Amino acid sequence: MGPLSAPLCTQRITWKGLLLTASLLNFWNPPTTAQVMIEAQPPKISEGKDVLLLVHNLPQNLPGYMWYKGKMKDLYHYIISYVADSQIIIPGPAYTGREIVYSNASLLIKNVTREDAGSYNLHIIKRGDETTGVTGHFTITLYHGPDLPRIYPSFTYYRSGENLSLSCSSDSNPPAEYSWTINGKFLLSGQNLSIPQITTKHSGLYACYVRNSATGKEISRSMTVKVSGPCHGDLAGSHSRLPQQRR
Ligand SMILES: *[C@@H]1O[C@H](CO)[C@@H](O)[C@H](O)[C@H]1NC(C)=O
Ligand SMILES: *[C@@H]1O[C@H](CO)[C@@H](O)[C@H](O)[C@H]1NC(C)=O
Ligand SMILES: *[C@@H]1O[C@H](CO)[C@@H](O)[C@H](O)[C@H]1NC(C)=O
Ligand SMILES: *[C@@H]1O[C@H](CO)[C@@H](O)[C@H](O)[C@H]1NC(C)=O
Repeated sequence: MGPLSAPLCTQRITWKGLLLTASLLNFWNPPTTAQVMIEAQPPKISEGKDVLLLVHNLPQNLPGYMWYKGKMKDLYHYIISYVADSQIIIPGPAYTGREIVYSNASLLIKNVTREDAGSYNLHIIKRGDETTGVTGHFTITLYHGPDLPRIYPSFTYYRSGENLSLSCSSDSNPPAEYSWTINGKFLLSGQNLSIPQITTKHSGLYACYVRNSATGKEISRSMTVKVSGPCHGDLAGSHSRLPQQRR
């Protein structure tokens, strides 16, 4: 198995052996050609949390890196750069004060907001004459909300016999879970409340609760519903069309 036996063997190399050698060479290809990748940790986050944009397979001995917000590589979108030789960090116009760049090019964004969501570009500066570099991007999916819900319709005066139909909506990702209470008592789960042929007994404080299980936040809005007794003329036909007071 000494190295001297190698030249003797080369004369007996078959096609099969060549192919095997070729596949072994491919297998042992050094990882220098591995693509630079950006991985968000965690990949999905809610507002107020921190996200780390991990850079994998970064080539060694680079002079520096620049991070950009979005896909545009211009001054306006320039967040921060790291100059490796002097270990200097240079913030740009898109820097919010919440970003930290590490020497390994990874970027930490603290206390993220909705506006932070989107793609990010890493520009790698290479040594020599090369002025352009490798870019990568990714997207943060943010959990947010729920926002203060809106109740529709917003008018609060009804007549006996009318159908009460309230719809609650709140901006939230993932969508909020809804529930309704009347005078503090649980009424039902769901976005829409519908009570046919209401009477004065249905007067009260209606509240819509919204909850986002991902952010753990909960918020509510309430409105007073006042149901007046039926008008004298309306008593004749219970199915007559009743005007709704919008006040
Ligand atoms: C880069 O540095 C940060 C902070 O020290 C660390 O959390 C992260 O794991 C490093 N990234 C890689 C790819 O090693
Ligand atoms: C996170 O940002 C919000 C506003 O976007 C601010 O009110 C809050 O104090 C910040 N939290 C931390 C820990 O910096
Ligand atoms: C109330 O709803 C019922 C069906 O649930 C409908 O037949 C009736 O016309 C509605 N009344 C009014 C005043 O809209
Ligand atoms: C509730 O009502 C609104 C408005 O009428 C409608 O857009 C929405 O789809 C309803 N939601 C459900 C869960 O039925």
